[in-house]
Amino acid sequence: MAEQLPYSEKVMDHFTNPRNVGEIPDANGIGTVGNVICGDVMKMYLKIENNIIVDVKFKTFGCGAALATSSMVTEMVKGKTIDEALMISNKTVAEALGGLPPIKMHCSVLAEQALRSALKDYYIKQGRPVPFNDQGHSHEDEKCL
Ligand code: FES
Repeated sequence: MAEQLPYSEKVMDHFTNPRNVGEIPDANGIGTVGNVICGDVMKMYLKIENNIIVDVKFKTFGCGAALATSSMVTEMVKGKTIDEALMISNKTVAEALGGLPPIKMHCSVLAEQALRSALKDYYIKQGRPVPFNDQGHSHEDEKCL
């Protein structure tokens, strides 16, 4: 029998009851990212007005940790400015979930990248230069397995 990973209560909560699942038909920033190793895919929809993320939804085809981190990141960015959203890294998402097992930290990278990819799409659609590095923060210690 497979050994159960030590997930926090918050991870289990967001996994079993994910927030903000779905699509935004009139989203003005959409980002899709995938992990080539595990094949998991995350799509994020943003509705941005006056520099504020007024709505956010996501669809994730992936593992429980990917689902929980997508759900958590949507809660963290809703109502925030773009600059505040850009401060969020995969580590802050994992911390907000009470931590992730080291073997699952790479799953949280998908949440950060989906967010940045959707923000990048927003700037491109606005015809404005993208004022940040869309590769996100450093993930050297979170190699995909
Ligand atoms: Fe692929 Fe978690 S195993 S994102």
